[in-house]
Amino acid sequence: MINPQVFVSRRIFPEALDLLSQVAEVEVWPEELPPNAGELENKIANADGVLTTIMDRVDAPLLAKAPRLKVISQLAVGLDNVDVAEASRRGILVGYTPGILSKATADVGFALLLSAARRIGESERWVRAGGWEMSFHPMYWLGAEVNGATLGIVGLGQIGLEMAKRGLGFDMRVIYHSRTRKLELEERYGLEYVAPQVLLSESDFVSLHVPLTPETRHFIGEQELRMMKSTAILINLARGPVVDAKALYTALNEKWIQAAALDVTDPEPISPDDPLLTLSNLVISPHIGSASVTTRKEMCMMAARNLVAGLKGERLENCANPELYPSKGL
Ligand code: DGY
Repeated sequence: MINPQVFVSRRIFPEALDLLSQVAEVEVWPEELPPNAGELENKIANADGVLTTIMDRVDAPLLAKAPRLKVISQLAVGLDNVDVAEASRRGILVGYTPGILSKATADVGFALLLSAARRIGESERWVRAGGWEMSFHPMYWLGAEVNGATLGIVGLGQIGLEMAKRGLGFDMRVIYHSRTRKLELEERYGLEYVAPQVLLSESDFVSLHVPLTPETRHFIGEQELRMMKSTAILINLARGPVVDAKALYTALNEKWIQAAALDVTDPEPISPDDPLLTLSNLVISPHIGSASVTTRKEMCMMAARNLVAGLKGERLENCANPELYPSKGL
């Protein structure tokens, strides 16, 4: 019997490739930059399975060119680059990697929060530029107190909850807004559910953890930034377009809010000429939320297991469209 064909769109941990190789002929995209739309189309034209990252646009026109595709395995929790509805329409299972990356991602979220609050990046640049001329000054580099401050979590999914737990560890008051209210978590962790306007106006730190959908695009725009305290700090670990980048620039430049910390941008990657990068009250990291060795390896293994399961006609460990199972006898 001919082995199924699998295309892996980026270099991943060899252990995950080994797993795939046990059941399939595997082709890995060898370049540093991801395949463009035409290259991806070409690579999956005869594939039975594909392992994708957030940089691969898996849309209806692409899926129309992949008649053999049985399973898409996304190496991420976010699926905004994949047209899951169209995949379902075509009977293609979609795997993803929720859960395992939540703690590592929230660690980066909290690192960004602390860095923006206590001006770590800004003061480090000052030291490197030779600005540190006296050991200590009572009035230098004053930042925001984290202990006792109010942390507003937008989206209480697994990453949002991990961020909340880190806030509680720093004795913060944690308020949240989510599509669905989570009474059990409120009780267990002492979290307060509030309306978005209350969250924006009462939080010292607003941390975004919502998926990118048409409803959440520009969830934070001029109006929302104006509702925030002038001392507030915005943290975005979700997806760049959840924040209106132009409005954010104006808000930071004109000090409507104190600072922002971004692990994601719009566009991504951000251009070196982007005006946001001229601002000293912006902390930025290059989409590294889940980038610990342990977590990335586990993500690769989970994505590989999802792909193998799909190829074997079994249930995926994490499936974004499990409604397909009955039609597949699973
Ligand atoms: C995700 O998992 O969605 C991240 O943004 C990429 O690791």
